[in-house]
Amino acid sequence: MKIDIRAEQEQDIPVVYSLHAAAFGQENEGRLVDLLRQSEHYIPALSLVAVLDGAIIGHILFTKLKIMTGAGGEVESLALAPVSVTPDLQYAGVGGQLVRHGLEVARELGYGSVIVLGHAQYYPKFGFAPASRWGLTTTYEVPDEVFMAIELQPGALAGAAGRVVYPKAFEQV
Ligand SMILES: CC(C)(COP(=O)(O)OP(=O)(O)OC[C@H]1O[C@@H](n2cnc3c(N)ncnc32)[C@H](O)[C@@H]1OP(=O)(O)O)[C@@H](O)C(=O)NCCC(=O)NCCS
Repeated sequence: MKIDIRAEQEQDIPVVYSLHAAAFGQENEGRLVDLLRQSEHYIPALSLVAVLDGAIIGHILFTKLKIMTGAGGEVESLALAPVSVTPDLQYAGVGGQLVRHGLEVARELGYGSVIVLGHAQYYPKFGFAPASRWGLTTTYEVPDEVFMAIELQPGALAGAAGRVVYPKAFEQV
């Protein structure tokens, strides 16, 4: 499917909310995006919409998070969440294009890695691997295989073993 991917603009905000509500069948993810957009974790260039014939059919968001390393240090990384494609256009490659494009923009902006909590069958095809490989932990009680990470710069997560701290907004929805 031939789509355009561009940074979200202000007039897209209500559409993005509705898109997540339709894709997830609940309002939490739309609320999460609204909260993150107002937070220090937001990066405008990494809130991306997929556009088909002028209509928004997908959205992906990457926000800043920190890894608190064992040695008392901090490593900046990104959270990928959420990503949605409008229900009647799923399974046509749009989600994949959004993930790949987003990872490329993040790399160009100089970010070293991305972390995702998501479908264990979906994200490995983009290069994500269990975050435990780099000694990353989360306070969320989830199976090892759904907590994943990818290095955008080689070695970015070497020595970053520690606790991934998600933006507060993730606990507020
Ligand atoms: C997940 C989602 C963003 C994928 O976008 P998409 O455009 O449908 O996906 P693509 O066409 O790029 O890729 C299709 C692949 O995704 C997989 N996939 C899609 N939805 C999936 C789901 N809910 N669980 C597991 N895998 C899923 C398909 O099995 C397919 O795999 P294949 O290529 O090996 O056959 C989209 O289906 C969606 O919006 N789902 C509802 C919201 C959601 O669950 N978001 C992700 C939270 S981690």
